[in-house]
Amino acid sequence: MKSNVVLIGFMGTGKTAVGQVLARWLHRPLIEVDVLVVKMADKSIPDIFRDGGEIYFRELEIAAVKQAAAGEKQVVACGGGVVLNTINIERLRGTGVIINLTAAPQVILKRTAVAGGARPLLNVAQPLARINELKKFRQPFYDWAADITVNTSKLSIETVAGKIIDRLKNYAGFNL
Ligand code: S3P
Repeated sequence: MKSNVVLIGFMGTGKTAVGQVLARWLHRPLIEVDVLVVKMADKSIPDIFRDGGEIYFRELEIAAVKQAAAGEKQVVACGGGVVLNTINIERLRGTGVIINLTAAPQVILKRTAVAGGARPLLNVAQPLARINELKKFRQPFYDWAADITVNTSKLSIETVAGKIIDRLKNYAGFNL
């Protein structure tokens, strides 16, 4: 029986915000993979990228996902690039149902602009073009990983969380 609710999806699709609501409603801890990465490295995400590049970040992310996937009855919010290493999804899928959040590029741009500089991959002159390029490349990975997909573009955080819970109630092999 799977018991973790795992949120994946591109940056700015609402993984952390929805994860907080789900954790509260389901009385489960919220485990944020990026927070585990920061603890492991004892550095912020921009500093990890600056000092060791994306490769170093992905190595830490694999270790953090392994740790998160080993727990039970949690809500796990992943970083947007977690799908890029197949091993991460295999591990997360072993103990959880994978919820893929999506949003339109313009919405992602607006949501990510508020946290200026916190996302090194979008710290470029043309962030919208970058979002489109990364999204296009990653789309097959998200599609492959997803058990359930919810488009968050026009929905409130609570509505998204409610939809996820409705889908989980009918999900065979999941312990809500
Ligand atoms: C990344 C997404 C970020 C963070 C890192 C890389 C990505 O997390 O893990 O900056 O590759 O999409 P969020 O999706 O929570 O912004």
